[in-house]
Amino acid sequence: MNQPLTVLLIGAGTRTRKLYAPWLSGLPPYGEMGVRALAVLDRDTAAARDVARDLPGPAVAAGPGDLDRILDHGRPGLVVVATPDAHHREYTEQALAAGCAVLVEKPLATTAEDAFALVRAEQASAGRLLAGHNLRFTNVHTQVRTLLAGGHIGTVTGAEFHYTLNPSHSRSYFTRWHRTRAASGGLEVTKASHHLDLLAWWLGARPISVTGLLEQRHYRGGQDGIPADADIHDSLHALIQYDSGATAHYALTPNAPAEGYTCTLRGTQGVCTVRYDARSGPHLVHLHTASGGDGARRHIAREHGSHAGADRRMLMALPRALAPGSPPYFATAAEAALAVATGTTLYGSSRQGRRLPVPQPTVPGESR
Ligand SMILES: NC(=O)c1ccc[n+]([C@@H]2O[C@H](COP(=O)([O-])OP(=O)(O)OC[C@H]3O[C@@H](n4cnc5c(N)ncnc54)[C@H](O)[C@@H]3O)[C@@H](O)[C@H]2O)c1
Repeated sequence: MNQPLTVLLIGAGTRTRKLYAPWLSGLPPYGEMGVRALAVLDRDTAAARDVARDLPGPAVAAGPGDLDRILDHGRPGLVVVATPDAHHREYTEQALAAGCAVLVEKPLATTAEDAFALVRAEQASAGRLLAGHNLRFTNVHTQVRTLLAGGHIGTVTGAEFHYTLNPSHSRSYFTRWHRTRAASGGLEVTKASHHLDLLAWWLGARPISVTGLLEQRHYRGGQDGIPADADIHDSLHALIQYDSGATAHYALTPNAPAEGYTCTLRGTQGVCTVRYDARSGPHLVHLHTASGGDGARRHIAREHGSHAGADRRMLMALPRALAPGSPPYFATAAEAALAVATGTTLYGSSRQGRRLPVPQPTVPGESR
């Protein structure tokens, strides 16, 4: 029988309690996946103990000072980094330096500088970096990727992607740690990185420039119960150019009645519209092609489980992704770094009032 994959969990907060702990416990919908918790590390050792206590097997609770020892002696098969975003770099770098495979939550980091440092850290490591852009794994998103890659609307030339957050979700970003740009990179990084990664993945292209506008429409630090140190914006608009020649309009709007998005993808031979219902589904994919008239309208059921089934699919894909070769569906370090760089360029562009180039990570063997 294969040895179980031993996992070090870093960050014992909401994401770990809702996803990684049930996964390591083999609870439904995950079931037995051949994984075992080695240790749970958090700067709040009581939180680490709470999570470790409920895990099967001898998982130990640890604090940041224990990391070197766990990496040296425990030799985890996988390190999961699920701390607030600004701490992703330090833990991921240490784990990669020890030669470990790392699954780091999105966003890869909060600045392009940190994200690109992680691309280099992976290149210098015997380990592997997988970015947890779970939205790629949602049933509707993999189907759209297959449609587009199969040329069903020809070459994709443009997209309009508008995500709306419901009021309670919107407000939570302004009351939790995400509320400072130092901790989260702003919504243009911590939230939009999901969508910016999805767009680039669907388009099969790299973002090269952004014209952005950030607004403060609903939430301000020090008002209506929002802590005074909140310095992020709540409404985002961007025009993104890609190296394929495609362009995308992107918007994120808070306090909407429903949570989800509409995305229209325009190609040389048709149009594909996606309506994603984050709460209940079904999702809708409407394919309108030059050859097939007002073609197919597909209703795709929202899968059970967190993030419309994406989290379970992502964890099921892990063993294959950790094997040598390219990671199926997982965002690579460079792709995740570009999602961060697109978000930070959106911010820079809004501040400077002009279009800015998206900085690019250096990937060996690629000429730009
Ligand atoms: N992919 C998704 O859909 C998704 C959903 C939710 C959260 N996330 C990501 O997961 C990560 C964790 O988010 P969360 O909602 O669980 O946050 P959280 O605040 O609930 O938990 C964070 C945990 O990290 C600990 N922590 C803080 N600083 C630390 C440090 N320097 N060293 C060690 N531990 C530290 C805290 O004590 C806390 O237990 C974030 O990167 C977030 O963006 C991703």
